[in-house]
Amino acid sequence: MAVEWSEYLSVGNERIDGQHKEIFRQVNGFIDAINQGTGALKVLDVLNFLVEYTVTHFHDEEEAMRESHYPDLEQHHKEHEKFCRDVLGLKKQIEIKGVNKIGILRTSHAMVNWLVRHILVADKALADHIRSVHSLS
Ligand SMILES: [Fe+2]
Repeated sequence: MAVEWSEYLSVGNERIDGQHKEIFRQVNGFIDAINQGTGALKVLDVLNFLVEYTVTHFHDEEEAMRESHYPDLEQHHKEHEKFCRDVLGLKKQIEIKGVNKIGILRTSHAMVNWLVRHILVADKALADHIRSVHSLS
């Protein structure tokens, strides 16, 4: 079952929305690969994507928070930092131990959790805040 991005999650910023759409694509693509038995071939590509994503996307998102005086920036930033650490830890484990089933499973869990717990909750709260700021101006 694929999880799809929808307008409901839009933060009203094309760049950030595009980054969110891309992470949905990456998660769905990785889950499909696992179901087809090719997760091992993709896991490092996916982790490399996530390393890049955490740098550029979080920077853009936090900039949007500062611009809109988002009150929960500190807490949101902590979630970003934790995800960065988790992604780097997963990548390091695979580099040390090689690709294995546990590494693939942990990566997929981290990604699905990120979608469900962060993008659908914390980023949605940010989206609502930005919309309310725009509707006032
Ligand atoms: Fe976020």
